[in-house]
Amino acid sequence: MKANCWFGKNDVRVEDVPDPKIVNRKDAILEITSSAICGSDLHLYNGFVPTMEKGDVLGHEFMGEVVEIGPDVKKLKVGDRVVASFPISCGNCFFCQQELFSLCENSNPNAWIAEKMMGHSPCGIYGYSHMLGGFAGGQAEYVRVPFADVGTIKIPNGLADEQVLFLSDIFPTGYMAAEQCEIKPGDTIAVWGCGPVGQFAIRSAYLLGAERVIAIDRFPDRLRMAKAGGAETIDYQQADVYDTLMDMTGGRGPDHCIDAVGMEAHTPGLMYAYDRMKQALMLETDRPFVLREAIMACRNGGTVSIAGVYAGFDDKIPVGSMMNRSLKIKTGQTHVQHYMQPLLDRVQNGDIDPSFVITHRVRLEDAPEMYKTFLNKEDNCIKVVLKPQEH
Ligand SMILES: NC(=O)c1ccc[n+]([C@@H]2O[C@H](COP(=O)([O-])OP(=O)(O)OC[C@H]3O[C@@H](n4cnc5c(N)ncnc54)[C@H](O)[C@@H]3O)[C@@H](O)[C@H]2O)c1
Ligand SMILES: [Zn+2]
Ligand SMILES: [Zn+2]
Repeated sequence: MKANCWFGKNDVRVEDVPDPKIVNRKDAILEITSSAICGSDLHLYNGFVPTMEKGDVLGHEFMGEVVEIGPDVKKLKVGDRVVASFPISCGNCFFCQQELFSLCENSNPNAWIAEKMMGHSPCGIYGYSHMLGGFAGGQAEYVRVPFADVGTIKIPNGLADEQVLFLSDIFPTGYMAAEQCEIKPGDTIAVWGCGPVGQFAIRSAYLLGAERVIAIDRFPDRLRMAKAGGAETIDYQQADVYDTLMDMTGGRGPDHCIDAVGMEAHTPGLMYAYDRMKQALMLETDRPFVLREAIMACRNGGTVSIAGVYAGFDDKIPVGSMMNRSLKIKTGQTHVQHYMQPLLDRVQNGDIDPSFVITHRVRLEDAPEMYKTFLNKEDNCIKVVLKPQEH
């Protein structure tokens, strides 16, 4: 089959690779109909996630048709149309039973590598380094889905791929980021980053009852999309973010702050040079500018909800601000399976149509070109969907 594979920094290629096979009794094989490129893939593309190997198949946001099942798959049958969750989870362990699916103890065969870096391991994730299991991803014609009963949701007839594809990751991710804020009527939520995750965080904050959402980015098309979702916006290249947020909230600060940017934050000025240099010298794994700003801006007693991905060890996090002002910090790889059914219900009810975020629909063969376009935010690119069955 054809698959989009990682070959190094800024080098991905569509190659012929062996077809996936059933390995365990609870596996299913999907023929992929739609697959997306995620902001998280850019961290791999830019070489910031350790333990990638040449030839690794990328992709963790995908859906398709079940073409083969292992003998212990109960819920699915051949021919079912399903969306898969990016966390791979057993459904039975201590964490899965609490629906903390991204913390599954049974799905990362390389947990020992993650333990060295993080103390404990999260779950396995498709196409996201050997430290997180070395699973082949879904930017491909076919994919193996371990624990297929737990990691998939069946899609009812009448819903298009584009309306449900993002149940795999970015819709639940934006939603969990907002839910972690425990929004009350009257609350103002600030969202850093108007990429796909930020867009879903904005809309989810409103779905959960926020009074106001303030969205921060620098790309006009992304800010426009945020406005279309009801947000007030700040272009961080035109205005000081902290000062503007204080002006907009009567000096108190937003009630809760969402970081939908993560480890590769950009910002003009000295701090950017500082972080870039430390990151390049491996003295710091991330550029946590947004996390610092979100902590400083958040009102006393508020929540800083971190959806953006961080990899390792960072500098100058204002811990004193967090501690003295009773901030709550909530974060995590998204527990996607916990959100798939309720968010599918929201799509079916017409509360939201997630396809609003798509700007590019292309063939699998075009993935390498699209990684560049998405990385550089060219051609007003916000979200790319790959169609492996179109040539
Ligand atoms: N927690 C999870 O399970 C999970 C799931 C999916 C994605 N993510 C992470 O969420 C983050 C966002 O993903 P995405 O797909 O939206 O990516 P993206 O790259 O499309 O969007 C990031 C946005 O942040 C903006 N940005 C950069 N610096 C900023 C700053 N200083 N202030 C405000 N905005 C700034 C960029 O302009 C860009 O629009 C990534 O780190 C990704 O890895 C996490
Ligand atoms: Zn993702
Ligand atoms: Zn588990």
